[in-house]
Amino acid sequence: MIKPDQFKFFSQLVKDSSGIALTKGKEYLLESRLNELCKVLGLRDIDALYQQAKFKLTPRLKEQIVEAMTTNETYFFRDQHPFDALKNHIIKELMAQNQAKKELRFWSAAASTGQEAYSIAMIIAEHFPQLANWRVEILGTDISQQAIAKAKDGRYTQVEVNRGLPITLLIKYFKQQGAFWMVQDKLKKLVKFKTFNLLSPFVGLGTFDCIFCRYVLIYFDQETKKKITDKLVKVLRPGGYLFLGATETPVGLDPSMKRVNFGKTVCWKKSGG
Ligand SMILES: C[S@@+](CC[C@H](N)C(=O)[O-])C[C@H]1O[C@@H](n2cnc3c(N)ncnc32)[C@H](O)[C@@H]1O
Repeated sequence: MIKPDQFKFFSQLVKDSSGIALTKGKEYLLESRLNELCKVLGLRDIDALYQQAKFKLTPRLKEQIVEAMTTNETYFFRDQHPFDALKNHIIKELMAQNQAKKELRFWSAAASTGQEAYSIAMIIAEHFPQLANWRVEILGTDISQQAIAKAKDGRYTQVEVNRGLPITLLIKYFKQQGAFWMVQDKLKKLVKFKTFNLLSPFVGLGTFDCIFCRYVLIYFDQETKKKITDKLVKVLRPGGYLFLGATETPVGLDPSMKRVNFGKTVCWKKSGG
C-alpha cells in the first residue's frame, strides 16, 4: 500500500496541476496507476518515483504523473440523447440565430480521444448539408497529450468503433486501414484538437455556440467545479448551450443560464441571442 506521505504528496501535485481530487479511499487507484507509470519510466517502484518527483521534478515528469491519473473513458455518441437534441432542436435554433454571420463553434472541453468531437461532426455532416458554406468549427481539448495525439490521428480500433457508432456512419465517415479505422477528411476538416487545461485562464479560445463539458467535473471538488463552470459561461455566446454529463448537476450556475429539457436531455441555455 502507498505510504500516507506519498499519497499526500502525489494527490496534492495532481490536484494543483489538473484539479483532479484524489480523496481518501483513492489510495489503490493512485498506487495502481503510478505502478504502471514506474514500468514505463523504468523505475523500480513508487518509492523511486516519489524520490524523483519530490527532489528532481521536471515539467515532463509532472505531466506524466497527471496524465497517469486521468480517466479517458469515452465512446461515440455517448448517452445518445445530447446528440439527438443537437440534431432535432439545437443546431436549427443556432442556425437561425447565426444566419447573418454564418458561423457555428462547438467546444468539446474534455475531449479525451476525440469520439465526442467526431460525433458532433457526424451530426453536422449527416443532417445539415446547408452548413456546407458556413464556418463550422468543433474544437476538442483535453489535458492529456496522449489522448489529444490519438484524437488528432483519428485512428480507432474495432473495439472502439463498436462502441456507439452505427455501422452506416462507420462506413460513410471512416476508412479501414489494417486493423484500424481512420476518420475521413470530410469529418477531420470540421474538427481541431489541442491540449488545454481547464484550470488555466480561458484565453485565446474564442467564444462558442455550444459547449460539451461532460464527465470531467466529477473529478473536481466543488470550488474547482464552480470556477470552471463560471469560465465556461463566460465563453458561451448569448443563446448558446452547455452540456454536462447526464449525472452531473452544476452548483451555483450563473443566473444567465436556464435549464432546458429536450427529451431525456438536460442542458443549460444562456440568456440572450
Ligand atoms: C471521462 S473523460 C470524458 C470524455 C468525454 N467528454 C466524454 O464524455 O465521453 C474525462 C477527460 O477529462 C480530462 N481532464 C481531466 N482533468 C482535466 C483538466 N484539468 N483539463 C482538461 N481536461 C481534463 C481527462 O484527461 C479525460 O480525458
